Amino acid sequence: MEPAWILLPGDAVHLAAGAVWFGGLVLLALSVRGRSIDDDPVGAARLVSRFSTVALWSVVALAISGGAMAWALVRVPGALTTTGYGWTLLAKLALVGLAVAVAAYNRSRLVPAIVARQAPAGASVDTEAGADAGADEVRTVRRSRGAWRQLRTTLGIEALLLVAVLLVTGFLVVQRPAAEAAGVTGIYDTRVAITDELELEVVVDPNRAGETNAIHLYILDATGRPAGEVEDLRLELAYEPQDIGPFEIEPFPAGPGHWIANVDELTFPGEWRLRATAGVDRFDEQQAEVTIPVR
Ligand code: HEM
Repeated sequence: MEPAWILLPGDAVHLAAGAVWFGGLVLLALSVRGRSIDDDPVGAARLVSRFSTVALWSVVALAISGGAMAWALVRVPGALTTTGYGWTLLAKLALVGLAVAVAAYNRSRLVPAIVARQAPAGASVDTEAGADAGADEVRTVRRSRGAWRQLRTTLGIEALLLVAVLLVTGFLVVQRPAAEAAGVTGIYDTRVAITDELELEVVVDPNRAGETNAIHLYILDATGRPAGEVEDLRLELAYEPQDIGPFEIEPFPAGPGHWIANVDELTFPGEWRLRATAGVDRFDEQQAEVTIPVR
């Protein structure tokens, strides 16, 4: 995928930052579960405040690297809602948003309550001010215990949300990137039904205006394998916005159920109409149309 100068370092930073956040979170959740804050309030405060800072920078790095990769792989906002990849990325972002909201709650509410215990008022109870300070200290201790207990739950929720993020990412990375699926970058590849049982797959390579483009046509059966039923195939290409064409094109057979046409007719970027006429048997012709978004 291009551009590699964004995707390679972006991926490296993204994976490292994701590993630090998720890995750190799991370790912290286990530590908080296994310990009481009363055993070592200073150590507990140091642990949560350090992780909170590390997690914040990890989220910033994830958002920048993820945003850069998303731009390279999606390119046009429309592709977010017209491709499976786009919808999967939106689902991932929704889950990341929830995880960040939980993390922000931990950082803004629970961590300060735990850290406050580190520097108790500690004054003597002989004076009125000292008595007030003592009451404050009791409140601080009580609040820190409550925050510690709550942290056990919220860290678990945050970790589960990140597991869900990773699951959705698994579905994301096996799909064709949105920009390619929408024909914005790379080759264009689409399928359309030609009869109840047969499909026509059209691949336009490199799908760039003003160049020689190879149009591959595959006739596939219901299982996605090349079908032998079609004896001949003809093409028409037209650019309707400017009344250009239709050009009649005769592709040459390249294998079972596979034809190729090398065309110079795609001279303008924009939506070209391709009509394929397939001789299904001696007496029957079927047509299918696809729109190719030529770059
Ligand atoms: C902050 C918002 C985020 C955005 C915009 C984002 C976006 C992306 C994008 C565009 C990809 C590339 C997918 C592809 O190769 O087709 C990706 C991959 C990935 N993301 Fe994220 N992501 C975000 C947050 C996260 C988080 C929080 C985690 C987990 C902690 C995560 C873990 C991953 C992993 C493991 C990959 C796979 C990398 C690979 O295949 O080499 N991402 N992300």
